Amino acid sequence: MNPLPIVVLISGGGTNLQSIIDRIADKTLNARLCAVISNKADAYGIERAKNANISIEIIDHKQYDSRESFDAELTQCIEKYQPQLIVLAGFMRILTDDFVNHFYGKMINIHPSLLPKYRGIHTHQRALEAGDDIHGLSIHYVSTKLDGGPVILQKSVAVLEHDSEETLAKRVLEQEHIAYPQVIQWVAEGRLQLSDNQVMNLV
Ligand code: GAR
Repeated sequence: MNPLPIVVLISGGGTNLQSIIDRIADKTLNARLCAVISNKADAYGIERAKNANISIEIIDHKQYDSRESFDAELTQCIEKYQPQLIVLAGFMRILTDDFVNHFYGKMINIHPSLLPKYRGIHTHQRALEAGDDIHGLSIHYVSTKLDGGPVILQKSVAVLEHDSEETLAKRVLEQEHIAYPQVIQWVAEGRLQLSDNQVMNLV
């Protein structure tokens, strides 16, 4: 089977990006990373892409006077690489409805909570403040509802008695690094089908 062409969008440290790079390298993920796109020039994930010889595109949102013009540039940039899947990995921009609709069914996101709990930011802090016993992560198709698209996979992580935001975030992130390459591999194998905004996993 041909490797699945993907583009990964980042804004920060890029540890999820690194897990994708590593799984492609050890051949447990049958994908080809066409490009990494960052909206921040100083994102550490750019170093990771450089080290892996992956094409890098920086589209600094501050250079654009509207979300529409930023998303138009982003669309052009993504389409240049003709990916079959767009992977948001810590990409911290709210996207316009037009952009999301254009790529609907071809764009996935990872979010550090058990959706529909804790959409948005500060998810670990909010789970701790609520006294939750169970926290976790969700991987979902991106829809026009922020962090609200059809869920593909969720992983639970126990909240421990003395957890801080940092210790909890670290354990969730470790699970993210296992789960995200797994879901991308499912796409590569043609196992996921989106119908009526529901995800089916064909075994
Ligand atoms: C990850 O925890 C990811 O789930 C989260 O940002 C972090 C990025 O880490 N994404 C979101 O909060 C999106 N709403 P990374 O840059 O090390 O992969």
